[in-house]
Amino acid sequence: MVARYYTLHPLIQPKNTVDWVIKWRKKEELEQLVVFCDSNTRYLAQPLADAVDALCLEVPAGEENKNLQQAERLWQALRTAEASRKTGWINVGGGMVCDLGGFVASNYMRGIPLVHIPTTLLAQIDAALCGKTAVNLGPWKNQIGTYYLPEAVLLDPAMLKKLPAEEVLNGKAEMFKHGLIEDVRLIDYLEKLPPNTMPGLGWVRRAAEVKMYWAGVDPHEKSHRKILNTGHTVAHALEAWYLAQGQTLPHGQAVWAGLMAEGWLAVQAGLVTEEGAMVWMLDIPRFVTPRNWPKTADWLPWMAADKKNKAGKIGFSLPTYPGNCLTDQYLSPKEVGILLRKFDLNTWLS
Ligand SMILES: NC(=O)c1ccc[n+]([C@@H]2O[C@H](COP(=O)([O-])OP(=O)(O)OC[C@H]3O[C@@H](n4cnc5c(N)ncnc54)[C@H](O)[C@@H]3O)[C@@H](O)[C@H]2O)c1
Repeated sequence: MVARYYTLHPLIQPKNTVDWVIKWRKKEELEQLVVFCDSNTRYLAQPLADAVDALCLEVPAGEENKNLQQAERLWQALRTAEASRKTGWINVGGGMVCDLGGFVASNYMRGIPLVHIPTTLLAQIDAALCGKTAVNLGPWKNQIGTYYLPEAVLLDPAMLKKLPAEEVLNGKAEMFKHGLIEDVRLIDYLEKLPPNTMPGLGWVRRAAEVKMYWAGVDPHEKSHRKILNTGHTVAHALEAWYLAQGQTLPHGQAVWAGLMAEGWLAVQAGLVTEEGAMVWMLDIPRFVTPRNWPKTADWLPWMAADKKNKAGKIGFSLPTYPGNCLTDQYLSPKEVGILLRKFDLNTWLS
């Protein structure tokens, strides 16, 4: 089992984050550092920036700000600061900061040294790992982006100390998905833990390793890495639907809903028995925060821009049962509509 571990970049649990950054700056002979955050993670970013003599740049928190306009504003700020290829860029934030900051760093002067210090559970086990960066194009999720590896990702448990309880629920969605695609022990562990309780460090690391493995064998998502998209065709459609209404659905909540809808799709498509899928699907509602979910017919059309689509068909990585998720499942929009005609998120998630 352990021999199947591939890595794209170091995953570091530093004793002292400030010391690590100072050593990195020296080793890479960096002339300047930028610490990037959002308005909710400034309290973590500013002390680091002060300690390592870095410029601190901030964007307003929220998925709606993961866009090209903010990216351009940040590139302008780099120009004003006379940043060069010897400027190191450090993301201190959740997946939104890592995606947007990674995108900015990967394009400024065709790429400057990048480090992620993820501050949400979701970013520590998923978004900060393995080099995908992105911004949204209007409501369409992650349409513009790059593959750009960070020089390191620092998993610092101190970053999660004041994480709001709902962000623990959100992070657990990707952890549960990693249980479904690879290691059922993650699901067993989450079942026993109260929903709002932060998982132990060893389990955070294990969930991160699952991502590192699947991305490591296929860095540019030509084949195996697609398994990490399990539940995400529906998740991204839902997020796009909410963004188009001027609202935000947290990515983790979208993933919980996506796993449920795609589990149901797998049952209806005959890929798994209802009994087999219910073993894990019935775990999901306790991690979902109450809301009035849109009707299936409303979010279905938003799957049209999924990056896995091919020849007019919608691409899925479908969850069936733990350890057996199926990539490269293609269905026409009409087939999806028929298979999901009796599915309603409000019924399944409450
Ligand atoms: N690149 C990838 O491989 C990948 C994988 C999964 C998700 N993502 C992306 O990641 C994003 C979701 O990430 P997320 O769930 O971390 O969302 P997020 O970054 O928006 O963070 C959620 C909220 O928590 C706040 N926050 C973050 N850390 C905090 C802390 N320590 N204390 C207090 N508040 C804190 C944020 O400001 C925000 O309001 C989405 O944009 C998604 O598309 C990317």
